[in-house]
Amino acid sequence: MTQSILILNGPNLNLLGTRQPEVYGSTTLADIEALCREKAETLGVEIDFAQSNHEGEMIDMLHGARGVHVGVILNAGAYTHTSVALRDAISSIMLPVVELHLSNIHAREAFRHQSHIAPVAVGQICGFGAAGYPLAMDALLGAIGRAP
Ligand code: DQA
Repeated sequence: MTQSILILNGPNLNLLGTRQPEVYGSTTLADIEALCREKAETLGVEIDFAQSNHEGEMIDMLHGARGVHVGVILNAGAYTHTSVALRDAISSIMLPVVELHLSNIHAREAFRHQSHIAPVAVGQICGFGAAGYPLAMDALLGAIGRAP
């Protein structure tokens, strides 16, 4: 059966393209989805590409990934820095999660330096803009033992 990855995007990422382009670039979320679908084809995996502005909905999607997806790529947006509930969800689902950010959160405001996700993630990719998504797909498959 073809392996499937959940790529989950959090709050405000639906506005990519017009949202602070000096920080996040001009790529839209639809562009990023297309990039991920192209990469998925070359890797021979399926993806479920999702976005939500709601913490609880994101938690529901993480729970729903069990038994469906082999792992998760998570750009939790600002919830990265605030949400113990998302961290607990990751700890609960027993699936590898790669933390992803378009911007280099460590080079930005101090409040972005802390991630509740990082300690329960396989690893973190940040600072590479949209290109980070295909990188994260390689990283996730590598982490589950299916080398890219
Ligand atoms: C972000 C970084 C977060 O600090 C911010 O709140 C976002 C986007 C990124 O992709 O760079 O919404 O996750």
